[in-house]
Amino acid sequence: MGLVRRAWLTVASEVAWRIPGRPQRLLAAFALAERGSMLDMLSAVEHTERRELRRRYFRHALDEARHATLFAGRVRALGGVGRAEAALEDSGQLVDAGIVGGQTLFERLGEEEFLSFVYVAEADAVEQFEVYLRRRLPDPETCATLARILKDELFHVSYSRTEVERAAAAGRPMALSMAKHRWRRVWQGWLRFTRDFGARMGGLWLGVAYLTVVAPFRLFARLEPGGWQLPERGGSTLDAARRES
Ligand SMILES: [Fe+2]
Ligand SMILES: [Fe+2]
Repeated sequence: MGLVRRAWLTVASEVAWRIPGRPQRLLAAFALAERGSMLDMLSAVEHTERRELRRRYFRHALDEARHATLFAGRVRALGGVGRAEAALEDSGQLVDAGIVGGQTLFERLGEEEFLSFVYVAEADAVEQFEVYLRRRLPDPETCATLARILKDELFHVSYSRTEVERAAAAGRPMALSMAKHRWRRVWQGWLRFTRDFGARMGGLWLGVAYLTVVAPFRLFARLEPGGWQLPERGGSTLDAARRES
């Protein structure tokens, strides 16, 4: 899937990073994803029985917390995101962070599955950042931030790959597990795309309906005796409220 994904990332990044306001939204989504990864790793620190991995999980969690702060800093430097967009991103935060039904990803998957998920997600992130850096997108300062983050992501890939290879050598079905996670990520990407597309189409059709159906009525609308009345001008809102009580 590497070649197809790289080609898709190249095309998508050329479009996505150049639409005004879009870089901030993408970077805000990255910041949330990093925060979600930090929560996943803290859960792994709490639940793992393997002492040597606990240290790695903890370092990984600290890295992801730092990445979330760095991405949030870039969002602010580029002018921030609108409140509606921030709310839309925030609304999916628990699910994006892998917390479903009160259970963290580690609790739901178990350690081996969790490590194969980490490896797939981190390898995808490395591939994605390398495409952006190669295309020098979206701007030099963000690229410098990405290059800084990329060093940590390479560590995340290398230790999770070592663990996946160790489990595979012990006869565990890790190839199947990784294939499952890869396809789940494709499916989740599709769901995100359809959610955004649906929101835009909904806004578009409501706008069209307003202009063609609702707005023309205003031209013919008249106030009638006994019907709705214009509010009285003057007087405080508090006075008006007291008169109604
Ligand atoms: Fe990260
Ligand atoms: Fe990472």
